[in-house]
Amino acid sequence: MSDASNAIETRALTKRFKGFTAVNQVSFYVPTGEIFGLLGPNGAGKTTTIRMLCGIMRPSGGQGSVLGYDIARQPEQIKKRIGYMSQKFSLYNDLTPRENLNFYASVYAVERSQRAARVAELIEMAGLGEHSRQLTRNLSGAWRQRLALACAIVHNPPMLFLDEATAGVDPVSRREFWDLIYRLAGEGVSVLATTHYMDEAEYCNTIGMMFRGEMIAVASPDTLRGQLPGLLVQLDCDNPLKAKEILQALPGVIDSSVHGAQVHASLDLPPDLPAEDECLTEKLELIEQALAQVQVQVSHWEPIQPSLEDVFIHMVDKRRGEPSPESES
Ligand SMILES: Nc1ncnc2c1ncn2[C@@H]1O[C@H](COP(=O)(O)OP(=O)(O)O)[C@@H](O)[C@H]1O
Ligand SMILES: [Mg+2]
Repeated sequence: MSDASNAIETRALTKRFKGFTAVNQVSFYVPTGEIFGLLGPNGAGKTTTIRMLCGIMRPSGGQGSVLGYDIARQPEQIKKRIGYMSQKFSLYNDLTPRENLNFYASVYAVERSQRAARVAELIEMAGLGEHSRQLTRNLSGAWRQRLALACAIVHNPPMLFLDEATAGVDPVSRREFWDLIYRLAGEGVSVLATTHYMDEAEYCNTIGMMFRGEMIAVASPDTLRGQLPGLLVQLDCDNPLKAKEILQALPGVIDSSVHGAQVHASLDLPPDLPAEDECLTEKLELIEQALAQVQVQVSHWEPIQPSLEDVFIHMVDKRRGEPSPESES
């Protein structure tokens, strides 16, 4: 099962804790040099999947390989060839970034003769030059994250696992962090990242959506968006929760969901109708009337492109409608 062109392959990968199945028959692959994003709510099984792939947790069933090594039989081979960074990545606060990098270089057994050059290269890559002599405790969250990434790749691993690596970091810094990830992927590094930020998911070549331990969809962001049925409309209204409840029950509305102060409704119409199309305006009039009957006013509506969040909500709703052996009914 070790196809060298794939950095990761899993087949029916499963992890059970006592009676509870945290990862249920998950199958996917990651081609070398690609960025694969695991998306899903807390408890979906993302971290457990990563732990099995990193060789630090034995699967209860199924198979997996990383860089051609079997995760159950060759975990030691895998551990020394991968980089792993989580939100809880340990940095030494009383050391400078440069000292942290030197420490990890020795932990990962980077050749002594190459350490200084590698550390300098990483300080440059992470843009840490100005901060390299400051104590790590004085760095902002975003800089700590960049340093943690640099430490995680000090041994030049061809495979990088990121588990919620940017949690708690502002959007601009997240984007800059992802620029670094792109650069690594461009150099041939394969990346598996978990996140619950939808903007980050957009950076991935392929996305695997996880829910209740299962992989409910695997495809590129564009393909996933194309799988949302109907035409998506965004409504601004004064009571989004009430609006969603009414919309759910209306004929011609496939699905609806609340996004802050707005409601998204997928209508049973071709996805590319222009906003002024009669079928669409008539349908919106009916919707506005139905909402007006329960004193919900629509101040604005427009057709929109589905986001990955729309797709995820749709996939989860679809899955909830199907019988599941683990479902709490
Ligand atoms: N060591 C463990 N023992 C028992 N249950 C666990 C253990 N690790 C994780 N779980 C459970 O498995 C499920 C998936 O957890 P996790 O993989 O951490 O999800 P995610 O990373 O997607 O939030 C959760 O319900 C969690 O409580
Ligand atoms: Mg997790």
